[in-house]
Amino acid sequence: MTTRIRKAVFPVAGLGTRFLPATKSIPKEMLTIVDRPVLQHVVEEAAEAGIEHFIFVTGRGKAVIEDHFDIAYELDDTLQKRGKLKELNALKEQLPAAGATSFTRQQAPLGLGHAIWCARELVGDEPFAVLLPDMVTMAGPQSSGRCLAQCIEAYEKHGGNIIAVEEVAPEETHQYGIVSIGKDFGSSFEITGMVEKPPQGTAPSNCIISGRYLLGPEIFKILEKVEKGAGGEIQLTDGMKELAATQSFHGVRFDGKTYDCGSKIGFLSANVAFALANPDIAGAFKTELKKFGPF
Ligand code: G1P
Repeated sequence: MTTRIRKAVFPVAGLGTRFLPATKSIPKEMLTIVDRPVLQHVVEEAAEAGIEHFIFVTGRGKAVIEDHFDIAYELDDTLQKRGKLKELNALKEQLPAAGATSFTRQQAPLGLGHAIWCARELVGDEPFAVLLPDMVTMAGPQSSGRCLAQCIEAYEKHGGNIIAVEEVAPEETHQYGIVSIGKDFGSSFEITGMVEKPPQGTAPSNCIISGRYLLGPEIFKILEKVEKGAGGEIQLTDGMKELAATQSFHGVRFDGKTYDCGSKIGFLSANVAFALANPDIAGAFKTELKKFGPF
């Protein structure tokens, strides 16, 4: 029997330096993919997977995130009076239930491991999900849901801790956390090792940690003490490596696509992919795209 995963942590304190000047006064998580912020796509993925409580680890200049997941009373009222019910419904659909969000701050940029540790009191003593908002996922044609839903299916099968993985070209492995592959079940496998951003040519596989995790609460005690690692930051991967000494970790090769919206190319590709998947605009957008080609 596994404990139901009810809570998800979204580390959203990052500075977004790769998107300056766009992110000078707007959090990078609020940049839009088609018609909604990057972060909303990720929160919707969590909600679809059955998450009930959304914990945001924010930082200075990120208050607009809190406003986004709240009712904007004046806006709702104006839309209602003008009969703009489609727009009003779009706002209502994205709204987590009252009391279903929590916000805490990472006071200094000490790394992803530290950001997750900042959520310890809000998570408490139960397994939880982590979704990195830079990674926006789309479900594959055969899959029952997006990446987090597939991770939860694997968790129900294997228990323990789960990490979503995907393959990248060997020359890209140094930019990510990498796992070593043990006993293989096809869509999932035992993880026998982890390393954060290995120097080029030293990665144990080309399977990257792709931004969705299900973790036991024991990780918090470890993150409290873990030493600074790659890039001089407190790394979640180093904490997980220590937890793996006493608990199982499985990797999930999910069916779907990931867009790394922490990079300009990934962000632009996500906009193209989500526009082409949106029946309201796909046709007209294809016509526009054709004007750019052939390359
Ligand atoms: C983080 C994680 C890394 C993971 C990556 C996915 O790195 O530390 O293990 O592969 O996210 O995007 P970051 O992108 O914050 O450097």
